[in-house]
Amino acid sequence: MVTESRAGWPDRTAAAPPVWLDPSFSDLLHRHPVLGAIRTYLPPSPASVFPGQAVIDTLPSSYADRGYGLLFYALVRALLPKSCVEIGLFRGYSLLMAAAALRDNGVGAIAGYDLFEDYPYRHAQRAQVAQQIVDSGLAAWVTLRQADVHAVHEHCGGVDYLHVDVSNTGETYRAVFEHWAPKVSQVILLEGGSRERDNVDWMLQYGKPAIGPVLADLRRDYPEWSISVLEPFPSLTVALKTPAAGGRASS
Ligand SMILES: C[S@@+](CC[C@H](N)C(=O)[O-])C[C@H]1O[C@@H](n2cnc3c(N)ncnc32)[C@H](O)[C@@H]1O
Repeated sequence: MVTESRAGWPDRTAAAPPVWLDPSFSDLLHRHPVLGAIRTYLPPSPASVFPGQAVIDTLPSSYADRGYGLLFYALVRALLPKSCVEIGLFRGYSLLMAAAALRDNGVGAIAGYDLFEDYPYRHAQRAQVAQQIVDSGLAAWVTLRQADVHAVHEHCGGVDYLHVDVSNTGETYRAVFEHWAPKVSQVILLEGGSRERDNVDWMLQYGKPAIGPVLADLRRDYPEWSISVLEPFPSLTVALKTPAAGGRASS
């Protein structure tokens, strides 16, 4: 059953199946055999897969309901990225899922960026996130920094894995591809991408540019990236750099 919460996000009162049981996930794997190993890390239903997961599972996140946390863990296990960046952390749910996978891979590090107290809407305290990282035993794999999503690329060289979750709109998607497509070697993850997510109250109420139409532009302008959307709410856009990357069609 889905009802509207006061914040304008669907409020699911019944347990929904995890994202990896959705047909959009099967489509993603069909298109990208390189992700085949990902199933090794995904149980038939949400469950504890790695040490310390129970602590991270207590953190509030719109990703939690449909099991996206384990998906981030499994993606990092399967792709073995060395250099990772996440922008938009809130309490650290997705950041710590990825960090746990780096720990279990035995290689890699993730830099987490957020505005923290400088973000005027729903945000977490930087000190609280820093403490959470320590409490999760993942401090050796995570660096915490404060920066605006539009400035982070200026501080970074090449990265393998990028995840952006800053109340994304179509504008966020355009900026991320402009700034990061040349710098990312494996995967760009962006919260959102589904029609349901484009129609949440705050997107409509504040006239925010929808993501769906931008995806069509990005597929045309960045042919070296294969762009898929995992549909379960809040949805996730998964852009994988294709081995036959042929350069940009336009700039
Ligand atoms: C939806 S929350 C992130 C949720 C998180 N990824 C999780 O796993 O639950 C959005 C975060 O983006 C941050 N944020 C919003 N606008 C930002 C911006 N322009 N630059 C950097 N961070 C921003 C907010 O402070 C907030 O912590």
